Amino acid sequence: MTAKQKSKSNLSRSWSGDEIRSTFIDFFAGKGHKIIPSASLVPDDPTVLLTIAGMLPFKPVFLGKEPRPSARGTSSQKCIRTNDIENVGRTARHHTFFEMLGNFSFGDYFKKEAIQWAWELCTNIYGLNPRNLVVSVFREDDEAESIWRDLVGVTPKRIIRMDEQDNFWSSGPTGPCGPCSEIYYDFKPDLGNIDIDLEDDDRFIEFYNLVFMEFNRDKAGKLTPLEKRNIDTGLGLERMAQILQGVPNNYETDLIFPLIEVLNKLFNVNYHKLDETKQTSLKILGDHSRAVIHLIADGVTASNLGRGYILRRLIRRMVRHGRLLGNKQNFLAELGNATINLMKQPYPNLVGKRNLILSELKIEELRFLETLDRGEKLLDQIIASNTSLITGNQAFELYDTYGFPLELTQEIAEENDLSVDIKGFDDAMDQQRKRAKDAAVKIDLTAQGAIEKIALNLKKTNFLGYEALESQSSVLSIIFDGQVADSVTVGDKVKIILDRTPFYGESGGQIGDTGSLIRDDLKVNISNVTRVQNIFVHSAEIIHGTLAIKDRVTAIVNSFTRSAATANHTATHLLQSALKSVIDSNIGQRGSLVAFDRLRFDFNAPLAINNRQLREMETLVNKWIIEDHPIAIEYMPIDEALQEGALAMFGEKYGDIVRVVDVPGVSKELCGGTHVTSTSELGVFKIISESGIASGIRRIEAVAGPSALSYLNDRDLIVKELSELFKSQPHQIIHRVSALQDEIKELKINLKTTKEELAMSRVLALKKHVTSIGNSQYIIEQLDGIDATSLQSAALKLLNELGDNTAVILGGLPDLDNPDKVTLIVAFGLNLVRKGLNAGKFIGPIARDCGGGGGGRPNIAQAGGRDAKSLSLALDNARQNLIALFE
Ligand code: SER
Repeated sequence: MTAKQKSKSNLSRSWSGDEIRSTFIDFFAGKGHKIIPSASLVPDDPTVLLTIAGMLPFKPVFLGKEPRPSARGTSSQKCIRTNDIENVGRTARHHTFFEMLGNFSFGDYFKKEAIQWAWELCTNIYGLNPRNLVVSVFREDDEAESIWRDLVGVTPKRIIRMDEQDNFWSSGPTGPCGPCSEIYYDFKPDLGNIDIDLEDDDRFIEFYNLVFMEFNRDKAGKLTPLEKRNIDTGLGLERMAQILQGVPNNYETDLIFPLIEVLNKLFNVNYHKLDETKQTSLKILGDHSRAVIHLIADGVTASNLGRGYILRRLIRRMVRHGRLLGNKQNFLAELGNATINLMKQPYPNLVGKRNLILSELKIEELRFLETLDRGEKLLDQIIASNTSLITGNQAFELYDTYGFPLELTQEIAEENDLSVDIKGFDDAMDQQRKRAKDAAVKIDLTAQGAIEKIALNLKKTNFLGYEALESQSSVLSIIFDGQVADSVTVGDKVKIILDRTPFYGESGGQIGDTGSLIRDDLKVNISNVTRVQNIFVHSAEIIHGTLAIKDRVTAIVNSFTRSAATANHTATHLLQSALKSVIDSNIGQRGSLVAFDRLRFDFNAPLAINNRQLREMETLVNKWIIEDHPIAIEYMPIDEALQEGALAMFGEKYGDIVRVVDVPGVSKELCGGTHVTSTSELGVFKIISESGIASGIRRIEAVAGPSALSYLNDRDLIVKELSELFKSQPHQIIHRVSALQDEIKELKINLKTTKEELAMSRVLALKKHVTSIGNSQYIIEQLDGIDATSLQSAALKLLNELGDNTAVILGGLPDLDNPDKVTLIVAFGLNLVRKGLNAGKFIGPIARDCGGGGGGRPNIAQAGGRDAKSLSLALDNARQNLIALFE
């Protein structure tokens, strides 16, 4: 869009983005809508990676799978779409991150109210002139058209019918959907009502979509009417801001432009004076910085998978556009900080996550900068080679070795009129995956597939394990060898699904329980339990008897391993609190494992935690243990839990009602794991190790409860054994070991001197083997068991004693345990060198005879070889050569 399109504002006032947002929410709250806070960008919906529309959190409500939060709702939802990322910054209105203002009817009002209220809001409240508005309706939707025409009074020529491509909306190929009606802003109403083309971006912008959600679409594309008809609307905040603020594009609104101003300063440029390419880079940075801070705040970390990959792509794209603006490095944290400040009022959660966001940005930027130069060099070479194609292998090398997301390579390729062999890239990726898979332990994929299929038709397993360690259960399904089996018998390794179970299924870092299923004539060992879509899957081996579908069994959890995991889980919560209290309140969890023998906690921290801090944290956790805090488990709405400051874990999905594990005054976390009833049950807490596992990510391993006891016992046993071995009291072991080390050092020195003396005396004894030819003389001998250095100093000593007309040639096997190693020394006296003899050259053929090589100066040379059997022949050859030189 061009500056010409600035709406010649017939608007009576100017609106800030924040005002547009709050006015929308207030308007619909005034019409009986419950205000619903923005959901996370990480949706509770496996069909999409990110929240792509305001309606996404309500999908289950529209489908009748979840109760409605109220009859009407309104929200301002943060969204991310990356499907047309290449348009971001290049058109006036495309974004990755945007805010969608919505009013929703959950089986309550329908078309008439939705249309009338939308119009009232646009014209009466935001003050848009009706002559600037055009609406579209679905081709077959006479009802919507007549509401616009007869009830609202829109002139029929400004009601445009459109087909399903434009006016039938759904959030994906399946799910709730329906015809929609959109409101467009017309920047050039003077062009009149003839041949209105809503695709003309220079003239129109679509800013408000009203979806009449009344169908569910299945995989085959079949539409089934929903039980209740719903309304889902979305008004693009950034687009409305462009219209109401009279600026030429969304980027120049107060929602984004302040970031471009920060970049102006950082890069020492002026947006308004730059060419289009550089302006685009600034717009991309403004857009992406909003996306990345929210992604990180919502728990996404950069990686090569799923949403982690989206984050990585965005950040790396930012780094590159920073380069295009002037090669400035390390600017992301500063931009991120400005973005947090700009958005913190509507999104106060950003403030508490500031350190986390900035450190993730810094780390990921640094990571990419490490390889960016080399990657760019490779790209420059490809571009300079006059090809029109970046091959699949090249694109894969850029991705795998230099961290260039494929999309970034494609973007650079396009800028240089090249294309990328995507299929070749995919093949290279597949090959790598295959290599990785071949190398990895083979998992039982067939069983996994079968379970997933079965799980679709089963009710979720009734988990009893918070209260009980034993239950009477029925066998619903048995999977043996990737197939459903009716019955299995002794020795069979199977997966079992029960109707109810006391076994904890691996989740939230805590590993699955072990135990057994029994009946008079039956014993089944359970070695692990996992979850597949709320179904608990028991990995089992039949020890005796036969197990069949529908059998009743007694399921018994191993109480010892359970209590070990339970203690480690509660200890994990205490450790996280101690980290926040001793190191930094912004430390956040990046991963965790709660096992029977230890706990492992990964978190973000730029520096290693030192011993003093580790000790301080350990003491703090042990203080909490001694203080005997009771632990309360409560179920409550997620908003309430988060408001009370409960910590939510990265990557976890939570329903509306969450389980909160509260150690009052110490820790409060959303958690589905098993926990002790009072901290004193942990007995003792001990940190075992601290290490770095990736840049900016640290790992602590620790133990508590039963595993602490066995850890301490193991250590104690080692100390006892050492004490016996060194015949010292435990507290004297260190002193004893260090005295022994000193002794060994001294002995080694003595041994070396002795060896040298011995070598020397053996070599000097050779004096009498000297052979004279004319004025010159030589010694050629084999001497084994002497290392190269000693052999060389002995040769020099011999030369010294026998005078300047002497040649000394020694060969030997320095290490008698390793007969494949040969050492050779050639030393020539000064007069021989003056005559032109050269030890460095002379040694070459001898070394080659022994399968090796080497060289040196004219007077002394050393070589090595690997062929001991040829040594004596080599020395004979050397004698012939030397005699020839003497003559
Ligand atoms: N879900 C519709 C959209 O995203 C209306 O909110 O356009």
